[in-house]
Amino acid sequence: MSERIRPGERVEVTEVGPRDGLQNEKVVPSTAAKIAFIEALVDAGARQIEVGSFVSPRWVPAMADSEAVFAGLTRQPGVRYLALVPNQHGYQRAVAAGCDAVAVFTAASEGFARANINTTIAQSLSEFRGLAAQARAEGVAVRGYVSTVFACPYDGPTRPEQVVPVVEELLAMGCYEVSLGDTIGVGTPSHVERLLDAVLARVPAECVVMHFHDTWGMGAANAWRALELGVRRFDASAGGLGGCPFAKVATGNVATEDLLYLFANAGLETGYDLAKVARAVRGLAGLLDHPLASRVHKALGPV
Ligand code: HMG
Ligand code: MG
Repeated sequence: MSERIRPGERVEVTEVGPRDGLQNEKVVPSTAAKIAFIEALVDAGARQIEVGSFVSPRWVPAMADSEAVFAGLTRQPGVRYLALVPNQHGYQRAVAAGCDAVAVFTAASEGFARANINTTIAQSLSEFRGLAAQARAEGVAVRGYVSTVFACPYDGPTRPEQVVPVVEELLAMGCYEVSLGDTIGVGTPSHVERLLDAVLARVPAECVVMHFHDTWGMGAANAWRALELGVRRFDASAGGLGGCPFAKVATGNVATEDLLYLFANAGLETGYDLAKVARAVRGLAGLLDHPLASRVHKALGPV
């Protein structure tokens, strides 16, 4: 059943570009360039931003400088600076670096859990339960991710019934919201509807975030369907950068600029300045091994 989208409503867009966007780049911008990118995105309006990840630097070399990125940031009040962590070791590193919140991540499919974090879904949830209890005691907020919510590059299609219990587990252990990842970007509005019918029957929409990758160009259409179904939280990556080293078919995340354009034209409030996001992306020009092919830069002209 669709809900009316009312102009003036607030939509939260979490900026994941500095982590999901850059983790897969072959040529990685310097620590200083990452810091400039993050600060520019915060200046553009990001109020929750994923700064980096505290994973094995052997597995994801592009995020090896996350401590230095946190150390070099000039922080702004009212902004939640997030760090992605796979385990207790990552949690300790993230807290020592000064993050405001950690994001734990697992999957709806065993094949991806094994490839991405070298464990089973059940083992990852058990690790996160201990981590979340410690975080609660230490006043650190915890966010959850469930990957491969529509399909897995190893196991094939994912059923909504595989997703729902993982979301419930993450919320039960204290995650303030859970992001549902279309890791390989194969979902369509029909997939979104099937999944959200199942998820929103069990958990409040305020706790649900949609995280789209744009392999088939469906990211904005998927976000619109999720909006119609009552979701008001989205992840996005400036410039549409992104991918996952453990899902080779994944392309970039849905671009922050595309979602902002969609939401602004529906009269929704995000607090972002689209031209400033485009300018933040321009700051990466020449620092990657590919041109930044964002449509937005053509549409906006010089920003
Ligand atoms: P493992 O090799 O099974 O771990 O990796 P281990 O516990 O056997 O440890 C092996 C070595 O790694 C040890 O060092 C540990 O100390 C070290 P050694 O004794 O060999 O010198 N280690 C660590 N070092 C630094 N930080 C840590 C850490 N943990 C262990 N936190 C592990 C397991 C989870 C660490 C590994 O699989 C890993 O790092 N995976 C990275 C996964 C990743 O970052 N994937 C991309 C992000 S997820 C994503 O993109 C999806 C998302 O966007 C949503 C979506 O789109 O669906 C979130
Ligand atoms: Mg992702």
